[in-house]
Order: sequence, then structure tokens, then C-alpha cells
Amino acid sequence: MQDERGHILQARSLDGDCRLLKIAAPRIAEQAKPGNFVMVRVSPSLDPILRRPFGILQSEPPHIWLYFQVRGRGTRLLGSLRPGDSLDILGPLGNTFPELAGKKTLLIAGGRGIVPLFHYAKAYAAQRQLFLLYGARSAAELHLLEEIKAMPFEKTVIFSEDGSIGKKGLLTAGLEKLITEQRPQATLSCGPEAMLSRLASMLDPGKTENYASLEALMGCGFGVCHSCVVLVADGSYRKVCDEGPVFPLQEIQWPN
Ligand SMILES: Cc1cc2nc3c(=O)[nH]c(=O)nc-3n(C[C@H](O)[C@H](O)[C@H](O)COP(=O)(O)OP(=O)(O)OC[C@H]3O[C@@H](n4cnc5c(N)ncnc54)[C@H](O)[C@@H]3O)c2cc1C
Ligand code: FES
Repeated sequence: MQDERGHILQARSLDGDCRLLKIAAPRIAEQAKPGNFVMVRVSPSLDPILRRPFGILQSEPPHIWLYFQVRGRGTRLLGSLRPGDSLDILGPLGNTFPELAGKKTLLIAGGRGIVPLFHYAKAYAAQRQLFLLYGARSAAELHLLEEIKAMPFEKTVIFSEDGSIGKKGLLTAGLEKLITEQRPQATLSCGPEAMLSRLASMLDPGKTENYASLEALMGCGFGVCHSCVVLVADGSYRKVCDEGPVFPLQEIQWPN
């Protein structure tokens, strides 16, 4: 884990109040693996006091890329930073996706859940048979399609809730067909809790090995404050920050 001063090189505003930052952070970029995240101090002052957690979209030393949606005060401050500004970043944090060498793997991304899966695809698409099922509310929220088209996915299926791009509806509507046709041996997913919960009930763990990257409220990001716990199948708790964020999908007790 590094505590590094990152320097913003590019800051792009995207539709739907999303931002893409390219940051020079050589030590973090060198160590970051798909699934890891960072805790970012969003302002040069101590207000707000808590850092905010973000997945790593891509790391190509000496650079990392963050892709985030403006939600509240912290992301608004982060989104107002410009090239030339610098910021404190702690990372890389958390565990990583399993490599799943030799396994046909389906990536399932809902909205900004694309972040850690994009990182995984960048690292492994050239050596693995990867499929992508990617959905969002509308075409305007699918910002990374050009980059995704340039990656060697075996097949990409896009869903939008309003039908403005790809198939109309929730991405879970396309799951069964993809599984039947392509017979993946593993799935990696990230997205809203409702989507992950639905996947947990739809996917058969006897047929695919299933992992998900989770979000939780995080105070510290490295195992000290216990603000990020999640309930697992045996009734105990796991810390999303240092025992995750990647967990076997069906190990989590999802709300009904
Ligand atoms: C491991 C991990 C990776 C993430 N990766 C991304 C990403 O790549 N892109 C992206 O847009 N968002 C990501 N998030 C969510 C992002 O951290 C929150 O949207 C952000 O912290 C909201 O901060 P805020 O001050 O704008 O919102 P506020 O609602 O004002 O935040 C108040 C407090 O709640 C916390 N909080 C609010 N929503 C969340 C949330 N969904 N998850 C965790 N903490 C939250 C904040 O950190 C802060 O402490 C990730 C969260 C986690 C845990
Ligand atoms: S965020 Fe502090 S223990 Fe997980």
C-alpha cells in the first residue's frame, strides 16, 4: 500500500455527471492489479475528512485512470479538479479478481460497475476467452464503448433500460442466452446491489465459478474501522475493504 501524491494529467467530463481522470501515480500504477481500489482525498484540506473509495479503471505505469459519477460532496470536489491539480491517493487496496487462467469467463458490468472489469479485460483479454455483458440506463451512460470495441472480446452484448442502445431492458435478461450459447466456466461481476443479488440467484455455481466486486461505505479502506462489513452465508461478517472487494458471489447473504 502506497500513500502517494498523484498529479492529474487529464480530466474529462462525460454525460450523466461522470468524470474520467488520468493521474500520474507511478508507485500505485506499478502495483495495481484488476480488482484493487484506491482511497482518494478529494480536497487539499481536511474537509471532508474521509477519503473516498474508487476502483482503478486502468493502470499503465506511471498512470492510473479513475472513472466516477458525481454523487455527493466528495465526488463533486473530485470532479472539479483540473489538469495540474494534485491529490493524495492511498492504494492499491483490497484483493484482486482471480486470474482464472484457461477458463472462458463472462464479465457482467452494470453502469459504473464496468470499472474493475475494464481493468481485468485490459490485463487479460489478449490471453483469455472473455465475453462481456454490459448494461446501463441509457446510451449516454455507456461512455467506454469505443475502448471496449477495441478490446479482443469474443462477444459483447449491450443492454440499455430505455432501449437507446443495444437490447432494451436489464442486462440480466441476456444472461441465460449467453450462458447457453457460450458456456463460460466463470463469471466476474460488478454493479448495483440489486443486479448482483439477482445474478446470485440466477447463476448455477455447479456450472460457473462466480465472483463479484462489492461496494460498501468505507471509513479507512484498510481494515481498521469496520464500517464496510458485509454479511456472508455462514452468518459472520467480512470487511469489504481488506477481505474484498472481490468475493465469491454466492458467499454473500443478499437482501431479498
Ligand atoms: C471499493 C469501491 C470502489 C468504488 N469504485 C467506484 C468507481 O470506480 N466509480 C464510482 O463512481 N464510484 C465508485 N465507488 C462509490 C464511491 O466511493 C461513492 O460514490 C463516493 O464515495 C460517494 O462520495 P460522495 O462524497 O460524493 O457522496 P456522499 O453520499 O456525500 O458520501 C458520504 C459518505 O458516504 C460514502 N459513500 C457514499 N456512497 C458510497 C458508495 N456507493 N460506496 C462507498 N461509499 C459511499 C462516502 O465515501 C462518504 O464517506 C466505489 C466504492 C467502493 C467501496
Ligand atoms: S473501511 Fe475501515 S475496515 Fe473497511
